[in-house]
Amino acid sequence: MKTKVGIIGGGPSGLMLSQLLDLQGIDNVVLEKHSREYVLGRIRAGVLEHGFAELMREAECGERMDAEGEIHDGFFIADNGRKRRVDLAGHTGGNSVVVYGQTELTRDLYDARAKMGGKVIHNVEDVALHDLTSDTPYITYREGDEIIRVDCDYVIGADGFHGPSRKAIPANVLKEYEKVYPFGWLGVLSRTKPVSPELIYSKSDRGFALCSLRSQVLSRYYIQVPLTDRIEDWSDDAFWAELKRRLPAEDAAKLETGPSIEKSIAPLRSFVAEPMRYGNLFLAGDAAHIVPPTGARGLNSAASDIYYLYHAMLDHYKKGDDTGLETYSAKALARVWKAQRFSWWMTTLLHKLPDNIAYEDKLQATDLEYLFSSEAALTSLAENYVGLPF
Ligand code: APR
Ligand code: PHB
Repeated sequence: MKTKVGIIGGGPSGLMLSQLLDLQGIDNVVLEKHSREYVLGRIRAGVLEHGFAELMREAECGERMDAEGEIHDGFFIADNGRKRRVDLAGHTGGNSVVVYGQTELTRDLYDARAKMGGKVIHNVEDVALHDLTSDTPYITYREGDEIIRVDCDYVIGADGFHGPSRKAIPANVLKEYEKVYPFGWLGVLSRTKPVSPELIYSKSDRGFALCSLRSQVLSRYYIQVPLTDRIEDWSDDAFWAELKRRLPAEDAAKLETGPSIEKSIAPLRSFVAEPMRYGNLFLAGDAAHIVPPTGARGLNSAASDIYYLYHAMLDHYKKGDDTGLETYSAKALARVWKAQRFSWWMTTLLHKLPDNIAYEDKLQATDLEYLFSSEAALTSLAENYVGLPF
C-alpha cells in the first residue's frame, strides 16, 4: 500500500488529522489496533476548549456537537463547602468551553471518515515503524497471517500513551519527563440529572471531588482515591456517600443518585516526551504527552498538535514550504508545556496532597484564597481553562 501520510492510531488525534488532510485532497491511511466498537466503548472526558470546537467545524464534523453540546461560560470551585464561580466569559472577552463527550466526538469523526470513504483500517496487529530517518519511511502491520507494508512520506504517531510510535525513537534521542501523582480518580457515569448546570471542582479535607455532566440526563462524577483502592471495593452506595461528604451541603442535599453505568479508577499522570519529531515521524496527542484530568486539557493539548501538523502538511504539499514541519516539535512543545503547567497547577491546588508538610498545606490554601481575591489570577485561570491560542 502507498499513501502520503500514514497515521498510527484511530483516536481523536489520528481521526481528526486524517479528516482534515482528506478534505484537502492529501491521501492518508489510519491504522487502528482495535475495532470501532471498542474505541467507542471507552468513556473519556467531556470538556472541549473553544479552539478544539473550531477544529471540529473546520473538519466538517461539528454539526452534532453544535446541536447537542452545551456551551459553558463558567464553573464553580468549592473549598470545604464554600462555593465560588469562575466567570470564564467575563475574564476572557466572551470565551467559553463546550461540554460534549469525547466518545461522541470520536463517533462523529468516524462517521465523517466513513462518509468520505476515508481509509481507516481496524484490528491491525504488530504495527512497526521503519526507516524513519530516510525519505522512504514505511509502516508494517499484521492482518491474520499476512504482513502488510504501507509506504508513506510521513508517519504520524497518534497511537496514545502505550502505542509503538514513541518507542520507535532511539533512547539516546528521546527525553521523557514524568510526574505520577500519589492518587487516582474514581469516576462514575450515571443516568441522573446533574447536580449543577455548571461543573463543580470541590476541594475538601476528605479529598477532591468533581461534578461534571454529559447532558441534562447523564452525570459524570469523580472522587480522589488512594492508588491502592480497587474498583471492587467501591459499591455505588459507597461512592455516592463519599461524594456527598465532599460537596457543599446544598449540593449534597440535592444530589440525585442512581446505578452506575460505568465505574473506573484512573491514575493521574503528567508526562511529556521530547522531541515530538524524529526524522519523518511526528508524534501527536497522548503518544507524546499526558495531563492529569483536573484542568480538562487532555484532548485540548492534542488539538494544537493536530492544528500545527495539519498546517505544516498543507504548506508542504501545496506550497513546497517545509518551515512548519521543521518547527513542529518546538512549536507543539511550547504549547504542550503550558497545558502541563496549568494541569499540574489545578491538580495541586485542589487535591488533598498526602505527601505535603503542614507549611505546604498552608500555601495551597493561600493559593486558592489569592485566586478569588485577584482579578489577574482569575483571568489567568480562565484564559488557560478556555484554552491558550494555537
Ligand atoms: N497500533 C495501532 N493503533 C494503536 C496501537 C498500535 N500498536 N496502540 C494504540 N493504538 C490506538 C489506540 O487503540 C487508540 O484508539 O491509538 C489510539 C490512540 O487514541 P487515544 O489514546 O485516544 O489518544 P489521542 O487520539 O491522542 O487522544 C487524545 O485526549 O482526553 C484526552 O487522553 C484523552 O485519549 C484522549 C486524548
Ligand atoms: C469530565 O466530564 O469527564 C471531566 C470534566 C472536567 C474535567 C475532567 C473530566 O476537568
